[in-house]
Amino acid sequence: MAERLAIEGGTPVRNEPLPPPYPGALVMGEEEKRAVLEVIEQRSPFRYYGPNVLNKVARFERSLEQYLGVNHALGVSSGTAALKVALVAMGVGPGDEVIVPAYTFIACVSAVVAARAVPVFVEVDDSLNIDVDDLKARMSPWTKAIMAVHLQGVACDMDGILAVAERDGVGVLEDCAQSFGAVYKGRKVGTLGRMGVFSLQINKLITAGEGGCVVTDDRDLFLRAVRCHDHGNLREFQGGAPLLGENYRMSELAGAVAVVQLEKLAGILARMERAKEEILKATASIDRLMFRRVPEGAEDLGTSVIFFTHCAQTAREFVRALNGENIGSSQMYDGTVYDAYPQVLNMSTATPEGCPFTCPHYHGDVRYHPGMCPTTESLAERLVYIPIAPTFEDREIADVVSGVRKVAAAVV
Ligand SMILES: Cc1ncc(COP(=O)(O)O)c(C=O)c1O
Repeated sequence: MAERLAIEGGTPVRNEPLPPPYPGALVMGEEEKRAVLEVIEQRSPFRYYGPNVLNKVARFERSLEQYLGVNHALGVSSGTAALKVALVAMGVGPGDEVIVPAYTFIACVSAVVAARAVPVFVEVDDSLNIDVDDLKARMSPWTKAIMAVHLQGVACDMDGILAVAERDGVGVLEDCAQSFGAVYKGRKVGTLGRMGVFSLQINKLITAGEGGCVVTDDRDLFLRAVRCHDHGNLREFQGGAPLLGENYRMSELAGAVAVVQLEKLAGILARMERAKEEILKATASIDRLMFRRVPEGAEDLGTSVIFFTHCAQTAREFVRALNGENIGSSQMYDGTVYDAYPQVLNMSTATPEGCPFTCPHYHGDVRYHPGMCPTTESLAERLVYIPIAPTFEDREIADVVSGVRKVAAAVV
């Protein structure tokens, strides 16, 4: 007989919640403190000038270039800023469509609109990343770029995506916000498409509270990104055509933290990967739980354990019961796709004119409605997501396993 669940009066698997899903923040310590203090002591929080600039952002950029094996990295103020800067650098603008996975963080959609282009949703498959067959069908004469989001530590099927992009002559922008350090066929994500972006927000693998970066091998795109993020300035660089930019610069305080956090990334990943392996080994055989698929050539960083149940109600009950056991879990984005966002369905922009949807340059006819990506909707509502923290010890790993087993026995 199934053990009595905590939500039904039974004894919970744990007496206290698991560590929260803030990997980089959980391992913050003296090193970050020293790095930030240095900047403050020099009274030089701005990267380009000041009493004694320590070049923290520049150091982060050079370390990131080395870590990823990419020619150029640019620190910016957030992952969303990185997306916008990269899209604009790639020449995306009014009249264009950008393909975005139907299951992702809303920033992917908003950044396309901020670049004044129209987002077009594509289905994800059971890897939770872009379904390449559906991608082929969603390409249009107006498609300018494909945003390949590597969700939760697992790379997309990049061979498939790049083949479609090449066939149609469009650029691929990799969104690596949730997958810092993930690998596809021996190469780090962010280096496979035309440009890549990362986020340093608190939920991410490494964090500076806020922050982001743009990477590329292409010098022209890099120079455009530099101009876009710094009022059109190039500072120490030369080349490319002038343009009116904005301000998405990274501060030296964020840069100081980012340098240290990047040094900690390998350790964070090693701990999370071990936890994930142990949890999967002990739960993979549970009947009727379908674990997220990892595409061929991709590896799983171990940021979370994700599986699907056979129906939406079971997934909801699973999450509720797991939380009762003090095994923090959710349905990620509440188990919903774009149809949860009225602003998407109604194409509500910040201004009543409705650019980019009403832009005279735009000749496509995109409309959004529930049911537009049925496979994604079905996956999202049946999904159970358990974040892993780098501070998991044997006790936490064992508790997650016990929790999943206990709840599965009762609700699946
Ligand atoms: C996939 C994805 N893209 C972009 C972002 C935006 O990053 P930020 O919060 O740093 O703006 C996030 C997360 O916040 C994300 O998860």
